Amino acid sequence: MNKDILSLLDLERKDFELFFKRALELKKNQRKSIEKRPLAGKTLGLIFDKPSTRTRLSFEVAMIQLGGASIFISSKDTQMVRNEPVRDTARVLSRYLDGLAIRTYSQDLLKEFAEFSTIPVINALTDLYHPCQVLSDLMTVIEYKGGYENLKTTWVGDGNNVSHSWINAAAVLGLNLVLACPEGYYPDADILETALERGHGSIIVTSDPVEAVKHADVIYTDVWASMGQESEHSVRKRIFEPFQVDKELLKNASKDVIIMHCLPVHRGEEMSEEVLECPNSVVWDQSENKLHMHKAILEVLIK
Ligand code: CP
Ligand code: NVA
Repeated sequence: MNKDILSLLDLERKDFELFFKRALELKKNQRKSIEKRPLAGKTLGLIFDKPSTRTRLSFEVAMIQLGGASIFISSKDTQMVRNEPVRDTARVLSRYLDGLAIRTYSQDLLKEFAEFSTIPVINALTDLYHPCQVLSDLMTVIEYKGGYENLKTTWVGDGNNVSHSWINAAAVLGLNLVLACPEGYYPDADILETALERGHGSIIVTSDPVEAVKHADVIYTDVWASMGQESEHSVRKRIFEPFQVDKELLKNASKDVIIMHCLPVHRGEEMSEEVLECPNSVVWDQSENKLHMHKAILEVLIK
C-alpha cells in the first residue's frame, strides 16, 4: 500500500478490498458497541481550503472513535497564508502529526504536500478527485447489491472530481461505468485515456442521459457547479437541465436501481425532491459510510 491516497490510482484491487472488508467490519462492530482504540496517541491534521460538513466531521469522529485526536487547520490561520512554502509546512507538520487529510483546489499542491511529508497524506477532495468519497460509495454499493461486479453504474451530470474518482475506480476494479454529461462538460480526457489504457471493465461517455440510465443498477449524480465554480452556476443550470435525475429518467433504469449522491444536494437541480426521498435513494447510508470508511483508511495508513 502506498503511503498516501492522492487518487484511487494509488490503490491496487487488493487495497480496495482491504478497505471494504475493514470498513464493513468496523460498521458491524460499532453496531455491537465493540470499541477498540488502535490509534491511541496518534493525531490527524485536517487542512481544509474549501467548506465541508461530512468529510471533515467523519474524519474527526473517526479519529475519536479510534482513540486518537484530530486538529482542524484552517489554512488561512497558518503561515501558509503568508506564503510559507508547502514543502516547509509539510516537513514541519510531519514532526507533529501522524497523518494529514487535505481538502484543497490543486491536485499539484496536494502532491507537493505528500512528497515532502513523511506521514500519510489523504485527499479529502481536490478540483480533480474525491477518492475517499468513492471508496465509501462503493462500500454502499456492496451493502445494497452484494458486490460491484456485473453491475451497470451510470453517472449523470458534470464530469467533475467525483466522476473522475469513479473513472479511476472503474479502471482498477473493472467496473461497467457509463457517464452521461452535457457536451463540453465531459470528464477530463487524460483521466479517461489513462483509465481506458488499463483495459479493465467498460467506461463509456455519452451526452444522452436516457440511453445511459437504461438498465442501470446504480445511478449517481452530483452538483452541477462544484466548489470554486459558483460564478458558473446560472449558465450551468440552463445547460444541465436535461440531466436532472427525476422520476421520468428513472423509468428507464432497473426497478431496484439505487440512487446515489455524495451530498450536499441541490433539490430541483441535479436531483428532484421526489427522487431524493424515494425508497431507491441511499444517500443517507452513503453519508454514514464515510465515517466507517475513513476509520478503515486511518487504521490502515496510520501505524
Ligand atoms: N460528500 C462530501 O464530501 O461532503 P462535504 O463537502 O460536506 O464534506
Ligand atoms: N463535486 C462537488 C463535491 C462535493 C462533495 C464539489 O467539488 O463541490
